[in-house]
Amino acid sequence: MAEKLFLGIGGSLRRVSRNMGLLRCAKEVMPEGTALQIADISSLPFYSEEQEKTDAVRLFLEQVKKADGLVLAVPEYNYSVAPALKNALDWASREPGDILAGKAAAMMGAGGGMGTSRAQYHLRQSCVYLDIRVLNRPEVFANAFSDAFTTEGDVSDTAEGRKLRARVADLMKALSEKI
Ligand SMILES: Cc1cc2nc3c(=O)[nH]c(=O)nc-3n(C[C@H](O)[C@H](O)[C@H](O)COP(=O)(O)O)c2cc1C
Repeated sequence: MAEKLFLGIGGSLRRVSRNMGLLRCAKEVMPEGTALQIADISSLPFYSEEQEKTDAVRLFLEQVKKADGLVLAVPEYNYSVAPALKNALDWASREPGDILAGKAAAMMGAGGGMGTSRAQYHLRQSCVYLDIRVLNRPEVFANAFSDAFTTEGDVSDTAEGRKLRARVADLMKALSEKI
């Protein structure tokens, strides 16, 4: 059976981003028969109808097309979705062929005390319009300022980090079973 390929898209451009750390963690715990590729959205220009597609845009759109599903790491900026992630989805949404529609997706995030829940619920609203089928459970709301993360933004090997890793693994298992 062919391997299922998921595309991870993280909304933080920081080198030591904990949300990107969540994606790296997800990559390590993908169930057998599945793989996670992590997109580089750092050089996507802001979407405009007048903006020519750059090489980075073309590569990203190809990755979206090829993916069986998406893993979205959602930072929360001012109670909503960080703009880099929204911009990436905006690019994909304007590509002919409705390339996001029907894709299964999992969502997770690392932020302040609310664990990016507000941003994730905002993004779920956009996903309704885009017809991205986001899993409802399990929810992963991580505290970015806890021992669950190292200073490099990776999920740590502390008790909190191991608990988070297990939760991310549960989410990836649920996603792999969805398609
Ligand atoms: C512009 C800005 C706005 C922010 N607003 C929120 C917020 O509304 N809620 C929250 O939990 N954290 C907020 N934060 C803190 C981020 O959650 C925190 O910086 C987090 O580590 C970002 O994820 P990253 O480590 O992947 O970059 C904000 C950070 C920035 C830079």
